[in-house]
Amino acid sequence: MELKDIFDNNKKWIATKLEENPDYFEELNKGQTPEILYIGCSDSRVTAEDIMGLKPGELFVHRNIANIVNAIDMNAQSVINYAVSKLKVKHIIVCGHYACGGVKAAMVAKDLGILNPWLRNIRDVYRHYNDELNSIEDEQKRYDRLVELNVKEQAINVVKMAAVQKAMRGRGMQVHGWVFDMKNGNLIDLKIDFNAILEEIMEIYRLEE
Ligand code: CO
Repeated sequence: MELKDIFDNNKKWIATKLEENPDYFEELNKGQTPEILYIGCSDSRVTAEDIMGLKPGELFVHRNIANIVNAIDMNAQSVINYAVSKLKVKHIIVCGHYACGGVKAAMVAKDLGILNPWLRNIRDVYRHYNDELNSIEDEQKRYDRLVELNVKEQAINVVKMAAVQKAMRGRGMQVHGWVFDMKNGNLIDLKIDFNAILEEIMEIYRLEE
């Protein structure tokens, strides 16, 4: 692949869009009203809109290594607050993926420099579910389970935010935990009840007065 090809592709994409709808870019330029905030991994193989069959304007996106939601990451916090309070999204999806290099890196003893504090978030998930994870003998299965538990914990971190609590309780906004399996292309809903989790953790994390 040459970078020049990208600009050629772009020209072809414009032509296709205009063929379908001559006002396409005029409409796109008017503004966005996405109903979904997607928080996923930076992994190049997990192309959010593509795997979900969504078009430009339908998905507000935040991606980082191993789909981490950290309370002092201004980037993630800004994206989530904007999506919830201004765009008023109906759903927040935290989507992990099996074969995640970030999760794998957090399972081995290795000094990865600047990545250490980032991956520490995943080691903390491991520590939280230490008994469950260590009871899984098969290493691949333990790795897959950590991917799922990381999705759950990062989504719980979303639920800990004031704007999210307000939107979940006030206007029925929903939080979901999904995993993408690139072995077969399946998008899997982990079916975690974040409304129930919200009520469970409110004693500690309640931010509404
Ligand atoms: Co990943």
